[in-house]
Amino acid sequence: MADVAVTYPLPGDGLERLGREHRVRVYRGEERLAADALAAFTGAAEALIPLVNDTVDEVVFARCPHLKVVANVGVGVNNIDLGAAAAAGVIVTNTPDVLTEATADLTWALILAVVRRVVEGDRLLRAGGFTGWKPDFFLSGDLQGAVLGIVGMGRIGRAVARRAAPFGVGVVFHDPDPAAGEGLAARHYPDLEAMLPDVDILSLHCPLTGATRHLLDARRLALLKPSAVVINTSRGEVIDEAALADALRAGRLAGAGLDVFEFEPRVHPDLLPLSQAVLLPHLGSGTRRTRAAMASLAVDNVLAVLAGRPPLTPVGLRR
Ligand code: DGY
Repeated sequence: MADVAVTYPLPGDGLERLGREHRVRVYRGEERLAADALAAFTGAAEALIPLVNDTVDEVVFARCPHLKVVANVGVGVNNIDLGAAAAAGVIVTNTPDVLTEATADLTWALILAVVRRVVEGDRLLRAGGFTGWKPDFFLSGDLQGAVLGIVGMGRIGRAVARRAAPFGVGVVFHDPDPAAGEGLAARHYPDLEAMLPDVDILSLHCPLTGATRHLLDARRLALLKPSAVVINTSRGEVIDEAALADALRAGRLAGAGLDVFEFEPRVHPDLLPLSQAVLLPHLGSGTRRTRAAMASLAVDNVLAVLAGRPPLTPVGLRR
């Protein structure tokens, strides 16, 4: 029986299953634990199950020498120092696949909401602004015939691309692997900057790494058409949020749909007054079934490693 530290009372039956085989300690505080506190909480545990907003850095690996596995509840692992984990011989796992379809659905919810001004329309109506149908009232852009540019054609990027055809939306993509779009009738752009002027909807699906931090900065935002919209369900830091707010305010960009934020849970104050920005509280994977499946997969990874079996979904070292 091993000691397992879990930083949140996870949904589903995963923790109950874990508790049948191991001693499980669950942190139930509202505030996320800072590195020192997380190291103290993890202590002599052999397994740690953190959330994507828990920072698991070298402090934790240095102070928790019994750790064998860190099983992140999420597909993104930018919250974990993978180099420090590898140096400490700790396996890191994540939760791919189980959240792909839910996140792709939410991406399209944002695309539809921003392009067809759904949230703006709702607000206007509630404020008494709907006085009757008029041919030129509250018009929006079109989806039919639009070009969707996907940055990062991994599992979620591909699932987003698969949903485009029924809306009459064409797909292009930027990814280091040209074969990532196979079977999707999507044109590959090796050069992101060549793709930006050609898209009507830009949707970000790349992992956050040193190379993708502020991938969409002021200079690249300026390459987009003024009628284009930007959608982000990946990680907030992929966009320079201040530059995005600036471009929206100045009318150099038509709209944005954001589920993630550079300084999450804080949102850049300049975005808040902008009605052409739809802002969601990190809901991409937020369906009851998906969140339970994520917790369950994290638990299965821990059970496998503690039993001496290979983890189900290990994460390799990234740049
Ligand atoms: C992830 O899995 O990385 C998401 O951001 C959480 O939904």
